[in-house]
Amino acid sequence: MNFTELSEKTRSYRQFQEERTIPAEKLREMINVAGLAPCASNLQRLRFSIVTDKREKLVLFSGIGWAGYLADWSGPEPGKRPSAYIVVHAPEAEKSFTGIDVGIVASYIVLAASGAGIGSCMLLNFDRGLTDSVAPAPGYKPELVIALGYPGESVLLEKDNDEIRYWRDQNGVHHVPKLSLETLILKG
Ligand SMILES: Cc1cc2nc3c(=O)[nH]c(=O)nc-3n(C[C@H](O)[C@H](O)[C@H](O)COP(=O)(O)O)c2cc1C
Repeated sequence: MNFTELSEKTRSYRQFQEERTIPAEKLREMINVAGLAPCASNLQRLRFSIVTDKREKLVLFSGIGWAGYLADWSGPEPGKRPSAYIVVHAPEAEKSFTGIDVGIVASYIVLAASGAGIGSCMLLNFDRGLTDSVAPAPGYKPELVIALGYPGESVLLEKDNDEIRYWRDQNGVHHVPKLSLETLILKG
């Protein structure tokens, strides 16, 4: 699979095969890859927590907001929930580039996951307090949660589509529209 194909495959999944465990070494490898990512001044300020414990996952799950555009869906049912989460932590001391660093490591993680056949969803809509209780990191704050699991739904890329809102059809297939190259390129 070349990089374009991997990028096409790397969609946000919100339903998983919950009982199918992701091997610990695969989760650690995703963080290893995140550690290779470029970052401002090579400061490498971000840290990561892996959450796989059943009770801790339930706590994290209870604070997550899923798929804002799907108004009549409140998130995955038991059995379809993430098998694991990675929490990305940044130092409490703010830096202007933190969000950029977080976005880059998150991209590396979801691409690495996808390359291993594992689905993911980056989540900004999560409860910071609950996340701190499950993955305490003194001096750090949770910036992003990434849900992970073997895919439990079909997600289809809709290329060259002017729509931005994803939708789910009557068969439960999740469709993700993406703008055309002509729309994206302003010059050149
Ligand atoms: C920074 C960021 C925050 C996101 N937060 C959430 C979230 O809180 N809940 C959710 O269901 N999806 C979240 N997503 C997933 C986006 O909705 C998803 O990336 C978008 O719909 C496009 O789908 P795709 O990832 O398959 O391209 C987030 C994505 C990013 C990059």
